[in-house]
Amino acid sequence: MSDEHPRMGPGRGRLTGKVVIVTGADSGIGRATARLFAREGAAVACADIRPAELARPGDAPRIDELIARDGAAGQGSGRAVYVEADAGVAAEWTRVIEVTEGEFGRVDVLVNNAGFGIRARLHELSEDDWHAVLRTNLDSVFHGVRAVLPVFDRQGGGVIVNNASSFGLLATDAYPAYCASKAAVVNLTRQLAIDYGPAIRVNCVCPGATLTPRLEERIAASADPAATRARMDDLARSLRRMAAPEEIAYAILFLASDEASFVTGHALTVDGGQTIDA
Ligand SMILES: NC(=O)c1ccc[n+]([C@@H]2O[C@H](COP(=O)([O-])OP(=O)(O)OC[C@H]3O[C@@H](n4cnc5c(N)ncnc54)[C@H](O)[C@@H]3O)[C@@H](O)[C@H]2O)c1
Repeated sequence: MSDEHPRMGPGRGRLTGKVVIVTGADSGIGRATARLFAREGAAVACADIRPAELARPGDAPRIDELIARDGAAGQGSGRAVYVEADAGVAAEWTRVIEVTEGEFGRVDVLVNNAGFGIRARLHELSEDDWHAVLRTNLDSVFHGVRAVLPVFDRQGGGVIVNNASSFGLLATDAYPAYCASKAAVVNLTRQLAIDYGPAIRVNCVCPGATLTPRLEERIAASADPAATRARMDDLARSLRRMAAPEEIAYAILFLASDEASFVTGHALTVDGGQTIDA
């Protein structure tokens, strides 16, 4: 079977000895990030709302199993634990921290990646839909940061990387809760960098359209999948294609690593040129 991350190279030890929590780690960008971070030497707590025992699409391994397989093949730490948790619920974070510290003894990096959107204009969104998007995309950052702060405090520092979106910088049609929540993540990132520096760096990525299961489903469910795919490709005004999840993961890796030691409060667009369009 072909590798699901063909653009992911061997690790170069950029996260050796680090312990990382990634939310939404079992699919898409979070999955590529968790795997890449393990290849770079980190031990990874893979937090995801998806039940641990559920079969994965196409019989794919769970992310912690994928990381263990990489490790057995000589690729990275091979160290991962799966934590079934809803990142939008404060109480679940107690367990995420307990499991991570229990397994790996510390936390160095938090990647707040879990998120989703609902395509509908504002008057078509139910109140429940609105709150569900805000809870997963924004409340999750609030709860995640609150959960790691005491740990970072004890250890003398840490790094946070949030996954926002190009739609945190630009608007698009029929995506009100998503655009609002992602814009909030961008500015919360800047705000947190002020309050918690110099010990803690806080940055976010703003990916453009990325071919993850979430987007694949949307393309497949559209009236004309070929036209939808072409439209998504064209969002990237310069590179004219969607990103692969591992291309976003590499940007997250940079922000998480010591190579970004003077970068904080930054929103890094990784969008093939989407946001350079007038
Ligand atoms: N795919 C894109 O085009 C794109 C573009 C910009 C930003 N993003 C952002 O990237 C992040 C990941 O998106 P993706 O496309 O990889 O999605 P995805 O649906 O492929 O994966 C998301 C993962 O998060 C998990 N998850 C969902 N809600 C959760 C919760 N409350 N707690 C814990 N885990 C939860 C899901 O089970 C899934 O495993 C999201 O924040 C999304 O907004 C995606």
